[in-house]
Amino acid sequence: MRKFLVAFGSVALLTVSLAKAEQTLYEKLGGKQAIDAVVEDLTNRMMKDKRLKRFCSNMSEDQLKARRALVAAFICKATGGPCEYKGRDMKQAHQNLGITEKDWNRFVELTKQSLNKFNVPADVQKEFLNAVAGLKDQIVSKK
Ligand code: HEM
Repeated sequence: MRKFLVAFGSVALLTVSLAKAEQTLYEKLGGKQAIDAVVEDLTNRMMKDKRLKRFCSNMSEDQLKARRALVAAFICKATGGPCEYKGRDMKQAHQNLGITEKDWNRFVELTKQSLNKFNVPADVQKEFLNAVAGLKDQIVSKK
């Protein structure tokens, strides 16, 4: 009986650790609702930010809502989630906006603040920010 329990325990442990290893970044972030919440919070931070508000200032509430939905769908899909993204690619969407390196750095800071607000664990934040960093060259267009 004892042997059986030990064997059963090991199989259970192995199953748990395998399931964890197979989790997508989408799942680690907490799924679509969690991504929606982070994107909404980040957009609000951008709108109040001295440096970044110019990128949101001439948008109506409906336009902002549509953009939030696109950003969340993009992140959902890019992190392995079950979403369809029907927007433009990152270069097309950002190339005419004149986004600078300093804008980018501020954006990353605000993203960290939003992730912290929703208690996203440090290792998941790191994985997410690494994925976002991979988009920088397509988004920053001005030195
Ligand atoms: C400094 C950083 C960023 C700024 C200032 C910024 C700003 C903007 C602005 C102003 C638009 C609307 C453009 C338009 O309607 O013509 C936009 C669209 C969008 N952005 Fe960003 N963005 C930044 C980073 C990112 C990142 C890191 C992602 C992805 C994780 C992203 C995803 C998107 C998506 C999906 C759209 C919608 C594309 C479409 O309309 O088809 N953005 N962004």
